[in-house]
Amino acid sequence: MTILVTGGAGYIGSHTVLYLKEKGESVVVLDNLITGHRQSVLNNIPFYMGSLHDEELLHYICQNHNIEAIIHFAANSLVGESVKEPLSYYENNVSGTLSLLKVMNKNNIKKLVFSSTAAVYGEPKHVPIQEEDHAIPTNPYGETKLAIEKMLHWAEKAYGIKSVSLRYFNAAGADPEGRIGEEHHPETHLIPIVLQTALGQRNKINVFGDDYPTPDGTCIRDYVHVMDLADAHYCALEKIRNENEGGVYNLGNGKGFSVKEVIETCREVTQREIKVETSPRRPGDPAVLVASSQKARDELKWLPKHPDLKDIITHAWNYHAKQSHQNKKRNVQFVK
Ligand code: UFG
Repeated sequence: MTILVTGGAGYIGSHTVLYLKEKGESVVVLDNLITGHRQSVLNNIPFYMGSLHDEELLHYICQNHNIEAIIHFAANSLVGESVKEPLSYYENNVSGTLSLLKVMNKNNIKKLVFSSTAAVYGEPKHVPIQEEDHAIPTNPYGETKLAIEKMLHWAEKAYGIKSVSLRYFNAAGADPEGRIGEEHHPETHLIPIVLQTALGQRNKINVFGDDYPTPDGTCIRDYVHVMDLADAHYCALEKIRNENEGGVYNLGNGKGFSVKEVIETCREVTQREIKVETSPRRPGDPAVLVASSQKARDELKWLPKHPDLKDIITHAWNYHAKQSHQNKKRNVQFVK
């Protein structure tokens, strides 16, 4: 039996594919390669370049690979972009998942692990955030992920499709062995941008707001290692396999770090100068997002192996420094 990973060439998807292979699972990847990278998936893993909207292709994959379960990452996932282009978020995320569920149903596939997000919560009333707290998204990205979670709830009732929705907080880090890492073009996430600054690929890092109601005035986030997220997907799959039960789970380390603290830790890890400038707040950024992941620890038996921010940044740095070295050899120019 095989696991289909949609979006398996993306950042979290490709790390999960690597992890599943290490666990001895048989895997097939589907990715449209709009934001994913073909080289992030090993050549010996069956790979289909295509869209979730292509139900014929999905059906073909299910028929030809004896698919037992699906881990579903494929989605648009940028908060700011979703505010500018809400309809394409509904189309790609909600309608794409609808196609996937229809094909699952047709092929009698009953297990799904879904990539959700902390963005479903919107502005939290208190931290750490628990799964039963109000989910009132403040952007279309979070809305589409919440809509899918609700669709999955009803798909279970009607068709018996068991699903686990994993609400990630801030994914960060890279494969500790440096084989793959975070590659977004353009990059919008804090840690890779700070590391690109350390590498001289950017002149400075703009801190979006230092007047938040936090101890140093900058936003606080809960950073979680991408390989720990990969492990959570495996734990979720095992729960559905063993208990035939799904659920909704937060994934974070339960510890918040401010933007300034992240930059300071990057200085410590890289031993490089990192120039900082304060700029206005980025619209839609909540001041503090920290997860309670007790439920995932209790019910999925999820135990993060790299909870330390310094380790997370060290793994990201090893990857970025290696890439920079290789790009210099290939004479690749960076767009700042
Ligand atoms: N930040 C800066 N400067 C930058 C980039 C980011 O100051 O150049 C700040 C942001 O304002 C924020 C923090 O760094 O306070 C983290 O920002 P990221 O963009 O790295 O991550 P987000 O917290 O915005 O987003 C993450 C996920 C989303 C998810 C969201 C939930 O990437 O997919 O958490 O709120 F939706």
